[in-house]
Amino acid sequence: MHRMANKRILLGVTGGIAAYKSAELIRRLVEHGADVRVVMTTAAQEFITPLTLQALSGNPVHLELLDTEAEAGMGHIELARWGDALLIAPASADFIARLANGHGNDLLSTLCLAARSAIYVAPAMNQAMWASPANQNNIKQLNDNGIQLIGPESGSQACGDIGLGRMSEPDQIAQQLADTFHTGTLAGSHIVITAGPTREAIDPVRYISNHSSGKMGFALAEAARDAGAQVTLIAGPVNLATPERVKRINVVSANDMLEATTACLDKLEGGVIFIGTAAVADYRPNNQVEQKIKKTENDNGLTLELIENPDIIANVAQRQNKPFTVGFAAETQNVIEYAKGKIDRKNLDMIIANDVSNKEIGFNSDLNAVTIIWPSGSKNLDIASKHSIAQGIIHEISLQH
Ligand code: PMT
Repeated sequence: MHRMANKRILLGVTGGIAAYKSAELIRRLVEHGADVRVVMTTAAQEFITPLTLQALSGNPVHLELLDTEAEAGMGHIELARWGDALLIAPASADFIARLANGHGNDLLSTLCLAARSAIYVAPAMNQAMWASPANQNNIKQLNDNGIQLIGPESGSQACGDIGLGRMSEPDQIAQQLADTFHTGTLAGSHIVITAGPTREAIDPVRYISNHSSGKMGFALAEAARDAGAQVTLIAGPVNLATPERVKRINVVSANDMLEATTACLDKLEGGVIFIGTAAVADYRPNNQVEQKIKKTENDNGLTLELIENPDIIANVAQRQNKPFTVGFAAETQNVIEYAKGKIDRKNLDMIIANDVSNKEIGFNSDLNAVTIIWPSGSKNLDIASKHSIAQGIIHEISLQH
């Protein structure tokens, strides 16, 4: 399983004979699905070339703190924020000492100071150096700072000694790192999510719409990405930032949303999941008015003739190569009964019943509470943030699809 699909690993390589193993380590991380960027200290470059690590990672290798060209591309603060984890392997005694004492005199030590993600250190050094009181004090300081160690192992060393200090094998380091993510349940899947409202034009300045903010759909996109899926988010007009590593397609009306959904699904093959979170307007004005409707022309009020919009999710569920199709049911009464009716009527595989009569949850709120219903079971998710509800829904989809 690609436990690190969609995960970004910043790999710091410091100077030591074990640096040659970082080439193998990159391969293992990539096999787990990770996107890897390498940062090398000056000493590391004495043991292995940046070119080798660049070829294996498929990304430029970062070497200098004060490099104007690099800063113009991806500056050191941006690079520190890029990673979902910062792994230093091998970590020499000297680098561990600098890390323990908060130095920031080269690119890698600066990244460690600026990183928001977890830092993992795989030490590699001679057994006497590992056991020395100074090094043990530094290791204690790393533990106190919340930095986690992977290894070292005991065994024969490059210098001929036998003892504790060998860097763990690349396989083991990659596996231990992958285990920290608890994700990858949807690696290899492509998830298409609709989110937000649609707007149906009355004239060039007025429209019909609803209160959907897009928060639920955007939270689902993040949760699906974190579970390792490739995510396409088809968003109606909302005021939300695009989640990182998610492909976003903006649309306005229900017809636009149908067109974008169909075009997207046409390009995808097996393993597709569709989630219809969008509050699609059921009706649109029948007449396409090109000029603003003047109030003076309508002294006796204005009557709009509305026609039905296409049902996007029902269209998706009728496709020959039907994706695993998950709908939402926003209801104000008989919530479960009406939601179950929609599963059958729209040929869905799962529906998320959402009681929108409660102002605390549902439309525009940061909170939600839902019942997930599938043909052979159901599950309640009590009131929680939309992010937490989204994780619960994605978890259930990964079990049922
Ligand atoms: O965006 P937020 O502010 O975070 O609010 C979230 C939400 C309340 C909008 C969301 O949780 C939700 O319940 N979305 C579904 C809203 C809705 O339109 O429900 P519905 O019962 O009318 O539709 C049932 C299903 O059919 C939905 O999956 C909907 O996307 C889909 N549909 C409806 C009409 C239509 N023409 N095409 C569709 O695809």
